Amino acid sequence: MTSVQHSSSTPPAPALAFPAGFRWGAATAAYQIEGAAAEDGRGPSIWDTFCRTPGKVLGGDTGDVAVDHYHLFRDDVALMSELGLTAYRFSISWPRVQPSGSGKANEAGLDFYRRLVDALLEAGIEPWPTLYHWDLPQGLEDAGGWPERDTAYRFAEYAGLVHEALGDRVGQWMTVNEPWCAAFLGYASGEHAPGRREGPAALRAAHHLMLGHGLAVQGMRERHPDHRLGAAVNLYAISPASDSAADLDAARRVDGMQNRFFLDPLLRGSYPADVLTDLEELGFDAAVRPGDLAVINQPLDQLGVNYYSRFTVTGEAGTAGQAATSPFASHSPWVGSESVGFVDGGRPVTGMGWEIDESGLHEVLTRLHTDYPPVDLYITENGAGYDEVLNGEDTVHDADRIAYIDAHLRASHEAIAGGVPLRGYFTWSLLDNFEWSWGYSKRFGLVHVDYATQRRVPKDSARWYAGVIRRGGLPDHV
Ligand code: FCB
Repeated sequence: MTSVQHSSSTPPAPALAFPAGFRWGAATAAYQIEGAAAEDGRGPSIWDTFCRTPGKVLGGDTGDVAVDHYHLFRDDVALMSELGLTAYRFSISWPRVQPSGSGKANEAGLDFYRRLVDALLEAGIEPWPTLYHWDLPQGLEDAGGWPERDTAYRFAEYAGLVHEALGDRVGQWMTVNEPWCAAFLGYASGEHAPGRREGPAALRAAHHLMLGHGLAVQGMRERHPDHRLGAAVNLYAISPASDSAADLDAARRVDGMQNRFFLDPLLRGSYPADVLTDLEELGFDAAVRPGDLAVINQPLDQLGVNYYSRFTVTGEAGTAGQAATSPFASHSPWVGSESVGFVDGGRPVTGMGWEIDESGLHEVLTRLHTDYPPVDLYITENGAGYDEVLNGEDTVHDADRIAYIDAHLRASHEAIAGGVPLRGYFTWSLLDNFEWSWGYSKRFGLVHVDYATQRRVPKDSARWYAGVIRRGGLPDHV
């Protein structure tokens, strides 16, 4: 591990200062970094199975070893310290805690998180665990997966086991990460595990992810009323390609499925009426039982916003398509709105092909503040993936990533100045890692990882971010 070098002299006051207590973090997820897939009793997850299914993940890559964080977590916490992170968002692997998805806890699995949390606390870094970042135990998928209502109850049970084990030392919790991806990439487009292509099942999966969130929050609230609880949703800014009626309707539909289908039940206790109309033929109503929405609509302390891009959409005939979330996209994830098309918005893109638009982040944050009941907001993911190489040097000159994060922090600052209760920013990601169906081909880290040797090398962005944290804000310009 090479270090993040910086001078120890007092930094100049930033031109754009963030409020005192603002959390400066980075995020990761269990399957993307831990490795140790068969250690200490961990059971298989849907991602282990998916990775072994030919043609699903680029290069046949798997998370078996990933960046071996399971064994190297102390080095990684040391890196976080050097960066000056005040908070670290990671996820807990459900199949480490419950190898087959139910029953008593596997203490050896929980011990890993006890060790990690202790190391973080010792380093003065606040742990921010997410309970579900897509690694459903395979045993539960075998029983039907998220489209089965019982999975929501299994999730709440698992959440309770983790909360009981770590709740004395961890007070910040996120339940589910990006339920849109888990439901619609997992069960409609099939680009993500478990790779099913069943629209109505995907809708039920979305509802059960939300229900699982609500049930888990109820249990956690009872156990530790002082804990701060929330969920992390992936929100997009959406623009119609033109002001034609068809394009405006496409924008309404994509906004409905991507943003409001999750925000409305979580924060208002209802599904959006226009979306329910779009879904009328698909039997979604039957999945929603009396009382479910009240369970989902638990008072939240915080909402995590994962923001990456803006979509420009069209409803004009002959343009059906989807924003590429994987190299293997073939089915639409837009259940009930399969004919919407995605067009080039004319912006520069990252190495993922995702359009860069920081104004969309400002728009999303401001909308949450004005349209929804008040809740503290955190950006729980934001960052840029590229195909990067070390080139024999001892760093990566990732000026594009610096520019991306800088622009989004400026947009965040502007939102705060406009009254939005944004309390923290977690960049995706601390380390290069397993980028789902893209395998190891896309790198999002502030820290480069050589996958053959596991050597960690901070990129230019790591030093830059450390400077932002040290100053508590941004200079006038990059
Ligand atoms: C998000 C995921 C995260 C990572 C980033 C790039 O959708 O939550 O795990 O893959 O995208």
